[in-house]
This record gives sequence, C-alpha cells and structure tokens, in this order.
Amino acid sequence: MARRRQLYEGKAKILFEGPEPGTLVQYFKDDATAGNGAKKGIITGKGVLNNRISEHLMLRLHEIGVPTHFVRRLNMREQLIREVEIIPLEVVVRNVAAGSLSKRLGIPEGTRLPRSILEYYYKNDSLNDPMVAEEHITAFGWASTADMDDIVALALRINDFLTGLFLGVGITLVDFKLEFGRLWENEDMRLVLADEISPDNCRLWDAKTSEKMDKDRFRRDMGRVEEAYQEVARRLGILPEA
Ligand code: C5P
Repeated sequence: MARRRQLYEGKAKILFEGPEPGTLVQYFKDDATAGNGAKKGIITGKGVLNNRISEHLMLRLHEIGVPTHFVRRLNMREQLIREVEIIPLEVVVRNVAAGSLSKRLGIPEGTRLPRSILEYYYKNDSLNDPMVAEEHITAFGWASTADMDDIVALALRINDFLTGLFLGVGITLVDFKLEFGRLWENEDMRLVLADEISPDNCRLWDAKTSEKMDKDRFRRDMGRVEEAYQEVARRLGILPEA
C-alpha cells in the first residue's frame, strides 16, 4: 500500500492523511513517555492493544449516542478517524484521588471522591499543560461557554458509562483524560470525542486488589506494564483467552 503523508507525530501516535477528504489515519506507537517527555521508553505491543481498547470503548460510547471521531479500525495499529479541529484542552475526570490531585492537595491515593471532579488543562507542551479554569478557557477563546456546556455534559456521561463498563469486568475507573474536537458538516458544528481512551490515559485499578493496570506502572517503574494492558484487553473481552 502506498505510504500515506504524515501530518503530525505525537508522543504515542502519528496522524496520516486519510483515504478520503475529512478523514485521517491514527497510528498507535509503542513509545511511552511520562512527565511531558522527561521519561521515555517502549512498551512492546502497547500500540496494538491501545488501538483495540480504544476502538472497543469508542464503539460502546457510540452505541449510547456519544459522538466520536472514530470511524473504523484498519489494521493492528491504525484506525480511520474523522478529521476534527482539536480543542486545546485535556479534560480530566476523577472518581478516586490519585496522581496529581493527591500530590497537590494531599488527599491520599485511593480516597473515593464525594463526587466526580472535572479538571481542565491547557494543551501546551512548552508550558507543561498547565491547569486552567473555565474562566481562562472562555476568556482566551479556546472554547465557548456553549462548547463547555457540551464538554461537561459529555464528560460526565462518558464517565458514568465507562465506570459501569469497567466495574462490570472488575476494574475501578479511577480517573482519565479526554480530548474533544469540532466536527464541521457544511455550516453545522458538533463537538465529538477525539484522541483515544486506553490505559495510557486512564487510571484503571483492579476492583478487588487495587493493583494498577495502566500507565502508572511505566511512570512509577513498577514493571509488568504490557501484561497489565493485556489484562485490561482480556477482561474487556477483546483478546482471546490465554
Ligand atoms: O497526572 P494526573 O493525576 O493529573 O492524571 C490524571 C489522568 O489523566 C490520568 O488518568 C492520566 O493518565 C491522564 N493524563 C493523560 N495525559 C496527560 C496528563 C494526564 O492522559 N498529559
């Protein structure tokens, strides 16, 4: 197959021009980074697993009416997506204290939060993705108040659905990061879920033992990273039983 034109290379994915106008091909790499690139490594097979896991979760979300950029998986490492105008925000949803929330506010990891908390980070590598408030987002025009209403509603809906889906396979959805994009169809604009949902951008703990099954195993040098991603895929029913 003719090599496609590369449009963008990120830390874990590459975007290529798609076969039709308005489409892109999203390629999942095995590269892993943490701390905005401060720590680098390879998790063998991660790209293949994240491609499958993200496909599965985007399809389940589509079934309940959440609009996404996902079209179809093309092969082991690539999926076809709709081209969207990415909103420069990382939307983090938290159900249980962990990571930067625990560090910043001194809430012990594992504390169940009284309600789900949404946080926003401005996507800017040179600024280290600083946390911002809705005030900054609307003042600087990264998203409108109407966009933010949609983002909040979608993020909470996605959280409720994925929390249940993961709990059904014995996994606690501790927190995760979402990205949204604007999809233009003629004059109409819709916000859609973009990027990926995988153990790279979710904290997933075994519901019984609280064992970490996500990228924290890489960030914290805990080992058995690939095995953890594989176990998530297996529990979701998208890998054949060993
Ligand atoms: O590090 P922190 O606790 O803020 O991360 C919250 C959630 O967002 C985690 O699930 C993490 O995997 C995800 N995240 C991400 N990309 C970032 C920062 C956080 O996927 N740049």
